Amino acid sequence: MCGIVGYVGENKVYPFLIQGLKRLEYRGYDSAGLAISNGSLLVHKCKGRVADLERHVLSKETEGTVGIAHTRWATHGEPNDRNAHPHLSMNRHFALVHNGIIENYAELKIDLAKNGYLFQSETDTEVLVNLIEFFYQQSDEINAEIAVRLALSKVVGAFGIAVICREEKDQLIVARRGSPLVIGIGQGEYFVASDATPLIGYTDNVIYLNDNDVAVITKNNLTLKTLDDKPASFKISRVDRSIGEIEKGEFAHFMLKEIFEQPKTIEDTFRGRISHDHTAIVLGGLLDIFPKLIKAKRIILIGCGTSWHAALVGEYLIETYARVPVEVEYASEFRYRNPILSADDVVIAISQSGETSDTLVALRMAKERGATILGICNVVGSSIARETDAGVYTHAGIEIGVASTKAFTAQVTVITLFALKLAFAKGEITEAHYHEIIQELTEIPEKIRTILAGHLRIEEIAAKYKDASNALYLGRGALFPVALEGALKLKEISYLHAEGYAAGEMKHGPIALVDDNLPVVVVAPKDHYYEKIVSNIQEVKARKGNIIAVATEGDTVLKEMVNDVFEIPESHTAVAPLLAIIPLQLFSYYIAVMRGCDVDQPRNLAKSVTVE
Ligand code: M6R
Repeated sequence: MCGIVGYVGENKVYPFLIQGLKRLEYRGYDSAGLAISNGSLLVHKCKGRVADLERHVLSKETEGTVGIAHTRWATHGEPNDRNAHPHLSMNRHFALVHNGIIENYAELKIDLAKNGYLFQSETDTEVLVNLIEFFYQQSDEINAEIAVRLALSKVVGAFGIAVICREEKDQLIVARRGSPLVIGIGQGEYFVASDATPLIGYTDNVIYLNDNDVAVITKNNLTLKTLDDKPASFKISRVDRSIGEIEKGEFAHFMLKEIFEQPKTIEDTFRGRISHDHTAIVLGGLLDIFPKLIKAKRIILIGCGTSWHAALVGEYLIETYARVPVEVEYASEFRYRNPILSADDVVIAISQSGETSDTLVALRMAKERGATILGICNVVGSSIARETDAGVYTHAGIEIGVASTKAFTAQVTVITLFALKLAFAKGEITEAHYHEIIQELTEIPEKIRTILAGHLRIEEIAAKYKDASNALYLGRGALFPVALEGALKLKEISYLHAEGYAAGEMKHGPIALVDDNLPVVVVAPKDHYYEKIVSNIQEVKARKGNIIAVATEGDTVLKEMVNDVFEIPESHTAVAPLLAIIPLQLFSYYIAVMRGCDVDQPRNLAKSVTVE
């Protein structure tokens, strides 16, 4: 949510800033801007995408070797030129970019106004940059670093900031509380970004800032302290990523690339975790904590959006196989509703980014109340990954498309491995059953390849429904969350209203929506719910709904009964969600493209939601 980049070194800063913004654009794309320090502070910014900024800057001065830049997802103030970052302080001593929310900005603004400060924008960020300047101007003893510290000590809320000062032109100051920041270490240069994506190709060595860290950076020196001016501990981590991961290659969109990557990402997720003979599951990250997990009285899965849907799949699998009671909670609700937790509870946060504010705060609350906290995250070194007692990385690779696809199937793969391992360790499933499902899981990538090979047929079907204005998605059991996820994908990228429902619930209300205009997507493979869901299909058919079924290959009965079919290979029920979601992802993708929507950067959304 908002992307920040910064640079200090010997090279011209502009190319890195603009390329960094392009790589971070998935975090927000309402407006973009940059500031360069070269004795004065050059600021260029405008509403729109990074490409608009590039055009805007074409004939402008961009000389300098120290700078900051920002791509915005609006919180305070509508997306326009004035509200775009960087913000300059009134007397142009400082320029600042910010990710997060300054909750007490209104009272700070009143105090600053009493001291003669005038504001150009409606943002909380402009208040912060002026507060820094206010302290800076109080005495000659107060340098930029002290002014930043003093200002941040007055701030309530979350921030990841990068600041440059006109008078201290060779230096960059960054700080975080609640919003991620990473520093890349180069040769005589440092890079700063909200996540490691812009650093790929520049350096592999990074420092992930902790909350309340303040770093003062020049081209040859980095000083890292806490907000209250104590030395801060840090560790240099390696980022092992290639440029190919952040380029679209032959694909028209990142989302399509990521959908097609799924056979490989699922293999990457279970590589090293399933023994060569497919008889054992090893989850290295949970090794030490596993004895505690076996004794857990209850498991609570938390997440948001797509990750919450993966958690719902987890509920079915863990309860069915490991026989442990599971609750699934929206992190945004859980954190505010004073839940009853004890040391016997295990809370597992599922998050692609590992930075979703609601999930992170809910997890901290669970920890304070004595629960064991675990993470299933994709981004290595992310806040959730670092703050949990233990966890499992999903290894899906960088996901850039705002609509999550490969992260979902990687999360479901991890949760499947977890449920099976726990079930076997608790003696809830036989060895033969354990081996059977592991074997089924290893066959999933090949089966997904078969579905993807039929993408043209899915595109043809999408063409028939692209002008619909509503859609209903139905599923049962672990395929109910798949229906929810299918509906979310359609909503997010094509702006069509779509609702996911447990198929058995349809008769309690949503059936009223069914008429000959309504596409109803029913996830109906041959499993033990089959007869029931066929009845639900009949109910829709009787009311003239247009039915698109996700059906097992060769199911001629359904083919006769419904309007269109997405075929998926036969599989064990435990792994069926990994197959059933694939045609639904493609269906949404093609509809969005046909409707002329911006698939990778859908309106109003951002990839990583680091505000409440
Ligand atoms: O990074 P997280 O998995 O914590 O993100 C959670 C949601 O914000 C995310 O899944 C969102 O719903 C996506 N846009 C789904 O496509």
